[in-house]
Amino acid sequence: TAEQKRSDYDLMLHAARFYQHQLKHHANSKTVIDYIKGRGLSGETAKKFMIGYAPSEWEALCQQLGRNKDQKEQLIELKLASEKSPGRQFDFFRDRLMFPIRDKRGRVIAFGGRVMQADQGPKYLNSPETRIFHKGFELYGLYEAKQAHKKLDHILIVEGYMDVVALAEQGIEYAVAALGTATTAEHMHTLFRTTDKVICCYDGDRAGRDAAWRALENALPYLADGKSLKFVFLPDGEDPDSLVQKEGKDAFEARLSEADDFTKVLFNKLSQEVDLTQDAGKAKLLSDALPLIEKIPSDFYQENILEHLGRLIGRTREQLNNRVKSPKQQHA
Ligand code: CTP
Ligand code: MN
Ligand code: MN
Ligand code: MN
Ligand code: MN
Repeated sequence: TAEQKRSDYDLMLHAARFYQHQLKHHANSKTVIDYIKGRGLSGETAKKFMIGYAPSEWEALCQQLGRNKDQKEQLIELKLASEKSPGRQFDFFRDRLMFPIRDKRGRVIAFGGRVMQADQGPKYLNSPETRIFHKGFELYGLYEAKQAHKKLDHILIVEGYMDVVALAEQGIEYAVAALGTATTAEHMHTLFRTTDKVICCYDGDRAGRDAAWRALENALPYLADGKSLKFVFLPDGEDPDSLVQKEGKDAFEARLSEADDFTKVLFNKLSQEVDLTQDAGKAKLLSDALPLIEKIPSDFYQENILEHLGRLIGRTREQLNNRVKSPKQQHA
């Protein structure tokens, strides 16, 4: 019988199912399941996120899903396999806990794989970009969050796979993660098309604070009237996963309800870098703030920020008025 050509999405789904099957039936199963349990995850959550296990063998997936030349080629094109030499493929993910990444329609488009012991190579290995996977556009957990809520009143952005699944385990089913990259403008665009309120909650470390600032810069063009952007800063050394397991859903959500508005974060950051008792510092704050303010489409937010800025540098709202171009004017 002439087999119909396998679609890319079909292959990715079969790979996800293969890894799920290995999680239950591989000889290393107990170790993997103990790891998952040790991280506080239930079987139910593992299933919801289609978490699986890529076995340690070199050709487990290749043998299962690369039965002929075309199929082998497709495995390589979708980065599920690598080529040692022409015709010699081996599995890209080996001995890792597997997180399938789904697009917003639920199709599996890539994987993230975590080592379960230290010294086993990089902690996470992610699918490189392929013809169906464009990193800067996809958000881990968005499909699952949409499944859990008819309408997403708010969305929480976190750093990692484990943050998303640990939060879901505790009943916080509205978290998504950018995939090992900064939160891009495209991510922000997607999020603000999906919800009105975005809350950023990155790890309580230097990298997390830097990520927050980049997210803020990338979100400004999407802050129309009615949209809100807030930030939660975690205690040093904590991430959403560690913290929600320590303090539980209610305490964690209390942090979210006390999140800082982006305007506060913006001024905190810009003020840190200048001496506001000096004219030079005030001038620098003004010149740093203006290009950011101009990106914001909401007149309401612009007004708020200009007012605040005026107070900090001793200018009236009127004096600042002709310094600002609104986005509408820029595009006219
Ligand atoms: N990441 C990556 N490669 C690494 C480390 C991190 O791609 N070597 C990405 C992953 O998407 C990871 C995210 O960055 O989920 C956040 O990194 P980190 O905070 O270090 O990991 P956690 O999500 O906290 O994972 P875990 O709790 O399992 O250590
Ligand atoms: Mn691309
Ligand atoms: Mn981190
Ligand atoms: Mn982390
Ligand atoms: Mn973590």
